[in-house]
Amino acid sequence: MSRKLIVGGNWKCNGTQDDVKRIVEFLNKAEVPCTNHIEVVIAPPAPFLPILRSTLRSDFNLAAQNCWTGKGGAFTGEISAEMLMNLNVPWVILGHSERRTLLGESDEVNGRVFPQQVLLSMHLWCPMVAEKVAYALSQGMKVILCCGETLEQREKNETTMVVARQIKAVADKIQSWNNVVIAYEPIWAIGTGKVATPQQAQEVHANIRAWLSQNVGEAVAQAVRIQYGGSVTAANCKEIGSQPDVDGFLVGGASLKPEFADILNARI
Ligand code: G3H
Repeated sequence: MSRKLIVGGNWKCNGTQDDVKRIVEFLNKAEVPCTNHIEVVIAPPAPFLPILRSTLRSDFNLAAQNCWTGKGGAFTGEISAEMLMNLNVPWVILGHSERRTLLGESDEVNGRVFPQQVLLSMHLWCPMVAEKVAYALSQGMKVILCCGETLEQREKNETTMVVARQIKAVADKIQSWNNVVIAYEPIWAIGTGKVATPQQAQEVHANIRAWLSQNVGEAVAQAVRIQYGGSVTAANCKEIGSQPDVDGFLVGGASLKPEFADILNARI
């Protein structure tokens, strides 16, 4: 089945107004394959979403890097899916490992709140992420759902189990996968320069598809797009992107640089 390529640029917590101008300039000039074949989603820090909305080319879409589990209200510092829709931001990245491990996003398990590190050691997954995904979808948003294992988990051969558990938490809460893209991001490859080999990426992507086939349905398994994320650069994107189950990338560091335009052309 041919799936439309999707490339995301996750700026994380980077940039000034001047950087925004500079990046938008090269994005707007970038030559990309026909947008019938590729979808581009740019995820700047939330304060820059409105300026990107008004200056970024219209064939590129926007994503937030997080949103709240439900309707807005007394949740200081949070952003609701309704606000994002109101700003004409249709996409949101959820479950990024940095939010889980560095920012201490916690889970509620049997009424108790556990820090993420404890949850990882307990082999539990974050129902908060699943709640966020379900709520964002209910508001008409599209979601890039991140998953991936730590180095320790990979070395213990737990990658398949960990990723399956992460996806199952979401599968249990949603009815449709039409507006979900999965981003497989091995934590050991994020921002480290230590990219997964094309074979490692393909193996996990194929396992994700197999899990979806067995637990959700074959049609969903074939239709859901799976991005690879973790130290993707212009130099390594072609080889990874040539794998049959890799449907694009979620790019961090390189999305702040002009080489992002080359990554958009990885399949040319
Ligand atoms: O969301 C993007 C990923 O965390 C990858 O980041 O390309 O800087 O390794 P990176």
